Amino acid sequence: RLEAVIFDLDGVITDTAEYHYLAWKELADDLGVVFDRETNEQLKGIGRMESLDILLGPSAANFTTEQKQVLAAEKNEKYKALIERITPNDLLPGIRPLLEELRASNVKMAVASASKNAVTVLRKLEIEPFFDVVVDPNSLAKGKPDPEIFLAAAEQLDVEPTNCIGIEDAAAGIEAIKAANMDAIGVGDPRLLSNADVVVEDPSIINLEMLEQQMAK
Ligand code: G6P
Ligand code: MG
Repeated sequence: RLEAVIFDLDGVITDTAEYHYLAWKELADDLGVVFDRETNEQLKGIGRMESLDILLGPSAANFTTEQKQVLAAEKNEKYKALIERITPNDLLPGIRPLLEELRASNVKMAVASASKNAVTVLRKLEIEPFFDVVVDPNSLAKGKPDPEIFLAAAEQLDVEPTNCIGIEDAAAGIEAIKAANMDAIGVGDPRLLSNADVVVEDPSIINLEMLEQQMAK
């Protein structure tokens, strides 16, 4: 039985996955590091410091922890400048009706994002009140693909993981949802999200009926 939907934020609710990419790309260009959209796929759903290590590749060893913290902070400043302009118009198609439909049916909702900027983004989108839980990434030991963040969301919502559906745009996120024993809806390219139970091109295809049908399978 569908009791809760756990949403990733960046790339599912709004297109901030693109802003993360642009901020990393600017940092990589400043450093003279090659960085393209293909490498960026590996960063989706992955925390800030770990993302920096992937971006730097083998040259990560040339930087001290302090230097890496400075670089990660630079990326975050670039990212914060980009999210400054977010408004409710930046919700991806179908998200607001989906949130309203779920609320009307008393389905609980949570956000499970690794981003320390998640609450800022939710406030700018004016959708924070829809969510019963926004998991604090500072409270977690492991990032996606570990299931910890989705299990924490289920626990904080007080629902069994098997009664939850997770929605993700990142391969690491789909892994995390499946490892948490939940059904997984992927948003994006089916070739990149092959472990999802269903993949949709964009969130406007997701509605309560579809989620309930998925749970019944
Ligand atoms: C999400 C995004 C990642 C981002 C991470 C940390 O998982 O998909 O691209 O690196 O959050 O975000 P933050 O805003 O804390 O740097
Ligand atoms: Mg995402």
